[in-house]
Amino acid sequence: MSSALKARSETIPVSSSVSAEDRTAVAKGIAKALSSTYVLYHKTHGFHWNVTGPLFYSVHKLTDDQYQDLAAAVDDLAERIRALGAAAPMGLEGYIDQSVVEDVNDFPNTGEMVKQLARDHLAVADQMREVVARADQAQDVYSADLLTARIGVHEEAAWMLNAIAVDG
Ligand SMILES: [Fe+2]
Repeated sequence: MSSALKARSETIPVSSSVSAEDRTAVAKGIAKALSSTYVLYHKTHGFHWNVTGPLFYSVHKLTDDQYQDLAAAVDDLAERIRALGAAAPMGLEGYIDQSVVEDVNDFPNTGEMVKQLARDHLAVADQMREVVARADQAQDVYSADLLTARIGVHEEAAWMLNAIAVDG
């Protein structure tokens, strides 16, 4: 690794009543949440492309909204990590390692697609709940608020996906 690249990945100074140790811990938690969000973004996009059958339009349209939300969330989470003074994680392998969402390279039938995505959204919400607890402990109210809002979005996404999976 070149020294220039190494220097860029080091933390930047931040003056805050939240201690450096707490900021580092919260940033690590957000990096995990970002990793899961990124893998779920990719999986949602793949299912959006490959869905077929009578539910095509519903799933294609819902996953369109959801992958766009996930892409925007990745950016918000990364920029929060920077605001805490840490480096935003890079490298797809690292994302896959830290993600609670499994990286898949194939797609199931439509019913299984929506059930899998719903389970994934709830797993990401649970991972984020741990980060909220750590952020609250550190009185890092903005990080706690950001992740709390994301939990709400993931739980709503799971509801919508599960609603499609129910036989009418
Ligand atoms: Fe599309």
